[in-house]
Amino acid sequence: MIEEKNSQDNFRNWRLEIDEGGTACLTIDKVGSSTNVLSSEVMDELDTILNTIRETRPKGLLIRSGKENGFIAGADISEFGKVESQSQALEHIRRAQSILDKLEALPLPTACLIDGFCVGGGLELALACRYRIATDDPRTRMGLPEIKLGIHPGFGGSMRLNRLIGAVSAMDLMLTGRTVDARKAKKLGIVDDVVPARHLLTAGKVFITEQPEPHKAGITKSLVSHNRLTRSLLASQFRKQVSKHAKPVHYPAPFALIDLWEKHAGSDREMLEAEARSVADLVMTDTSRNLVHVFFLQERMKSLGTEKDYTPKHVHVIGAGVMGGDIAAWCAARGFTVSLQDQKPEYIAPALKRAKKLFERRFKQKHLLMNAFDRLHPDHNGVSIEKADIVIEAIIENIDIKQTLYREIEPRMKPEALLATNTSSIELETLSQALDKPSRLVGIHFFNPVPKMQLVEVVKGNNTDPKTLARATTFVRQIDRLPLPVKSSPGFLVNRILMPYLLEAVELLEEDNTPETIDRAATDFGMPMGPITLADTVGLDICLSVATILGEKMGLEVPEKLKQMVDQGLLGKKSGKGFYDYDEKGKPIKTPENSKDRPTTLLADRMVLRILNESVACLREGVVEDADLLDAGMVFGTGFAPFTGGPMKYLESRGKEATLQRLKDFEASYGPRFKPDPGWDSL
Ligand code: NAI
Repeated sequence: MIEEKNSQDNFRNWRLEIDEGGTACLTIDKVGSSTNVLSSEVMDELDTILNTIRETRPKGLLIRSGKENGFIAGADISEFGKVESQSQALEHIRRAQSILDKLEALPLPTACLIDGFCVGGGLELALACRYRIATDDPRTRMGLPEIKLGIHPGFGGSMRLNRLIGAVSAMDLMLTGRTVDARKAKKLGIVDDVVPARHLLTAGKVFITEQPEPHKAGITKSLVSHNRLTRSLLASQFRKQVSKHAKPVHYPAPFALIDLWEKHAGSDREMLEAEARSVADLVMTDTSRNLVHVFFLQERMKSLGTEKDYTPKHVHVIGAGVMGGDIAAWCAARGFTVSLQDQKPEYIAPALKRAKKLFERRFKQKHLLMNAFDRLHPDHNGVSIEKADIVIEAIIENIDIKQTLYREIEPRMKPEALLATNTSSIELETLSQALDKPSRLVGIHFFNPVPKMQLVEVVKGNNTDPKTLARATTFVRQIDRLPLPVKSSPGFLVNRILMPYLLEAVELLEEDNTPETIDRAATDFGMPMGPITLADTVGLDICLSVATILGEKMGLEVPEKLKQMVDQGLLGKKSGKGFYDYDEKGKPIKTPENSKDRPTTLLADRMVLRILNESVACLREGVVEDADLLDAGMVFGTGFAPFTGGPMKYLESRGKEATLQRLKDFEASYGPRFKPDPGWDSL
C-alpha cells in the first residue's frame, strides 16, 4: 500500500501521495459525484498538480480512481449546454488539450491504472500517460464514445489513439463509439498489461521501475497515417462504411473526424489543432445538442426505480413464445433464477434454443454461460409459481384466456409477489377484474426483440398499487432496461404513437407509392428503418390486431389492404411475403426506385405529422408524465431519429404554429385523420 508520506489535501477532486519508493500516486475522486468526470474544476486542479510534479520530479506517476464503479466516464457533459459560442468551446478544448500535453511531456514515467469503465475524456487522459494497465474485471471497458453525443474526441484522443494503435482500429473504435474489454484492449495495444484487481498497484509500480519501451503502432500502421495517398483511400472506405448508417446532414461528427484525419494525420500538432476546431464546431450543432438531450433522458430513466430494499430473486414467466421466451432468457442472463411455463414442454424448447444463442453472445467465458443456463428452468406445469417473487405473463393476446390464467395462478402466488403482464394492447383495468387483489397487477411491457430493445413501458392501471409500480420499475432497472412509466390506456405510449405512422404508410401505398419510396422517405428523415420494412418485420398479423384494437378505441381507420394481406397469409418477413418478398436468407427483395432523387419530404411529413399529432394527444391525456419522457420513449422504443431529440423536441424546432398550420393543410387535403388534437391549444 502507498504510505501517505506527503499527502496534500488542498485539492477537492484529487489526492496526491508519495510512496516510500518515491513514486507519486494521484487518485481522482470527484467530490459530490458517484462517478468521476473531467469537469473544468477537475482539469484546473490537475493542471496545478502536474506543475507540482514537474517541479518535484518524483520517480514516476501513477494515476488511479478513488471510486468503486470505474476510472473516469469522460468530460462533464452537463458543461456542454453552458457553452455559448464556438470560440468559448475552442478555448475550453484547447485548455484541456494543453493539460494533457503537459501530462504527456512529464520527464518521468507515467502509468494509468484502470479498473472499471474508462471512456471518452477518461481514456484520452490515460492515452497521455506512457503506460496503461487494466484489470481483467468484466466491468473494465474502454472506448471513445463521443460520436454518440454528436462530437468526436477533442482532448487529443483522436491523435493519440491513431498513433498508438494505427488508424484502422482507432477509427473503427471512434466511428462506432463502441467500447472494448481489457483483453481486447491489450490485443489492440491500448493497454500494456491486464492483471487481477489486487495486483493493479504493484503492476503499475513495476512499469514505473522497469520502464519498458512504450507501445507504439507498428511501422506499417504508422505509414498508413503518414502517406497522403493511403490516407485518402482509407478515408473513402471509412466514409462508405459510415454512410451505411448515418447521413452527414443528420450526423456530421463521424464525417468531420474522417476529414480531419485525412487532412492532418501526418502531423500530431496539426491533428490536435484540427481536432479542437472540429469539436468546437460540432458541439454547437443542433445534432449534438439533441443527442446530449437524449443522453440526459437516458440518465433520467436510469435514475428511476429507487426501491433499494427490493431484491427479488425468482422470476416466473408464463408463455414461452416470441416475447416470454426472450424475457425469461434476458432475466436469467441478468442473474435471476427463472422458471418458464407454457402449455407443453415442446413449446418451451425453441425458447431455450434462443436463450443458448443469447448466452453465447453475452458470455465468452464458459462457466458464466453455464451458470446462466443453470438459472433458467423449463417448468411447463408451472410448479415454481409458489416460489416466484415476480410472475410475468406473456401468453396470447386474448382477454378471456389471460383472465382464466389469472384466476388459476393468483391463489398460488406468494402474497407479496408481483404479477406483471406483457400485454401490448389490453387495458390493465380489464385484466385485473379477474383478480381478488386487482392492485397487484402492473404492466411490464417489453419490445421486440427483447435483448435489443432497451425500453420497457411500466404500466400503471387505475388500481395498481403505487408500491407495486415502484417495485416493477426497480426490477426493470435491475435487468438493465430503461423503464418508462405510462398510464394504462390503449396502446400505452409507444405503440399508440407508432400506429398512425404505420397506417399512414399503408395509405401512401394505396396511393401508388412504392414500398421502397415510402421507406426511403422515412430513412431520409432519419428513422432507422422504413415503416413498410418495420411492419413486415413485426408481422402484418400483429400490426392488424394492434391496429384493430387501437382503431376501435381511438377511432382509427384500418386500411383494407392490411386486412386483405393478412387474409391471404401475407404476414411479412416470417411468411416470406408481405409488402416485400423475402429471399431464402430472409432479406427483402427491393426493386430499385425509378427516380431515386425524387424528393420525399411530403411523404415523410405526412407520416411524421401523424406521430406529432398523436404525441400531443398522449401528453394531453397524461399517458406519460411530460414531453421529455415522451421523447425518451420514442427514441429508445422506436429509434425515432435521435438527432432530432425526439418528437416533441423536433416539434419545438419546427415551431408550433408552422407545424399546426401544416397539419390543418393536410386535414383539408387528406381528411379528418389529420385533425389537430385539442392538446395543441394548450401546448
Ligand atoms: P406468442 O404467440 O409467440 O407466444 C404466446 C405463448 O403463450 C405461446 O407459446 C402459447 O403456447 C403460450 N400460451 C398461450 N396460452 C397459455 C396458457 N394459458 N398458459 C401458458 N402458456 C400459454 O406471442 P407473443 O408474441 O410472445 O406475445 C405474448 C404477449 O406479449 C402478448 O400479450 C402480446 O401482446 C405481447 N407482446 C408482443 C410483442 C410482439 O412483438 N410479439 C411485443 C410486446 C408485447
